[in-house]
Amino acid sequence: MPSLLLLNGPNLNLLGSRQTDVYGTATLSEIEDQSRAHAESLGADLTALQSNHEGVLVEAIHAARNIHHGIILNAGAYTHTSVALRDAISSVELPVVELHLSNIHAREHFRQTSHIAPVAIGQICGFGPVGYKLAIDALLSHIGGKA
Ligand code: DQA
Repeated sequence: MPSLLLLNGPNLNLLGSRQTDVYGTATLSEIEDQSRAHAESLGADLTALQSNHEGVLVEAIHAARNIHHGIILNAGAYTHTSVALRDAISSVELPVVELHLSNIHAREHFRQTSHIAPVAIGQICGFGPVGYKLAIDALLSHIGGKA
């Protein structure tokens, strides 16, 4: 059975009350529950983790190597700053789908650069919480028979 890791980075624990005009009203636990249910409906299991700390996210990517078949990563603001997260992804042989609720390309200039994109299999952004389901579909389709 394919096993997926859903990683959410800094400030995403505040979803539901944080800048609802940009990120919507769904809470992170609602999104995680919906993601788990969607993965299970497709015959996969999904583990969710959120952290506000870069090192915790790096270590979660390292640990995923022996447990999961792929990662869905909303790295939040670390997307635009973290060479360490990019290197962690390059260091493990796991497919990563980069995900954002908002369309980062239509926002401030500093959000239009992603350190994750060059080492991800692809990027999904701008679809709000639905993006999490799209990311699961994309990752499972990529993993295909490999899991
Ligand atoms: C985000 C976009 C980032 O620029 C921002 O720092 C976030 C959320 C998104 O999901 O749209 O924290 O990753």
